[in-house]
Amino acid sequence: MNDQFLGKTALVTGAASGIGQATALAFAKNGARVVVADLADASETLGKIKELGGESLYIKVDVSQEDEVKDMIKKTIDIFGSLDYAFNNAGIETGAVAIDKTDAEVFDQIMAVNLRGVFLCMKYQIPEMRKTGNAAIVNCASIAGLNGFAGLGAYAASKHGVVGLTKAAALENAKKGVRINAVCPGVIRTPMVERFTGGDPTLEASLILGEPMGRLGLPEEIANTVIFLCSSDASFMTAQAVSVDGGWISA
Ligand code: NAI
Repeated sequence: MNDQFLGKTALVTGAASGIGQATALAFAKNGARVVVADLADASETLGKIKELGGESLYIKVDVSQEDEVKDMIKKTIDIFGSLDYAFNNAGIETGAVAIDKTDAEVFDQIMAVNLRGVFLCMKYQIPEMRKTGNAAIVNCASIAGLNGFAGLGAYAASKHGVVGLTKAAALENAKKGVRINAVCPGVIRTPMVERFTGGDPTLEASLILGEPMGRLGLPEEIANTVIFLCSSDASFMTAQAVSVDGGWISA
């Protein structure tokens, strides 16, 4: 338990599943009240937080919709009184498709959730966080936000956008009490990756082969990094894109 999170409010988008769920639980374990925000039903996450003796609030939100994001932040403040930490994590993927075969609508949808969603969340989080004077945001990018991936053009573009947006927002707020960083996960064992491989063991084996540690990452390994980046242990860190990828980016 990290005492500095006691009585603080953490908001996690995409908290119904995978990395978002693991991070919501990590905030709860460290004593924060957690806003569990997702488009999907999040009763599993809420149940697990309850088992931990934690306090949570579910807000149904589509992060690509400005009025819904605005309402999410207002509701958070109305109910919990402040917003101290946010993990802007909600995201969607595509299957591997070359750019000349990608529908413009699919491109727009990926950008709407993965990039516009992060933009909208920060737009409404930052003014509230400046009031606390000691707040932190972590945005979920990807190793695809730092490298090109054949077949993942739209996804990689959205995640490179998250890194750029993170750096700009961090510099705008460096003297205003809000640190803003991005986490760049490698291949993490979540429902998203299960959808991507479609349960094909050969495809999963090829993903593992690309990981220098010889295994996929776990959602909790990303959650631990988010908790670190939000904590005072990371008090001189802002505008960073931190890879948590078993060495993938350097291989
Ligand atoms: P996941 O599919 O398990 O979880 C994503 C969550 O986001 C789901 O609960 C879903 O309902 C929610 N969501 C989707 N669209 C939404 C919207 N418009 N508004 C609100 N919520 C929405 O996926 P996973 O793997 O946990 O991914 C979380 C984040 O991590 C994503 O941003 C993803 O791009 C990123 N990431 C994942 C990697 C992996 O290997 N699993 C690698 C690198 C990045």
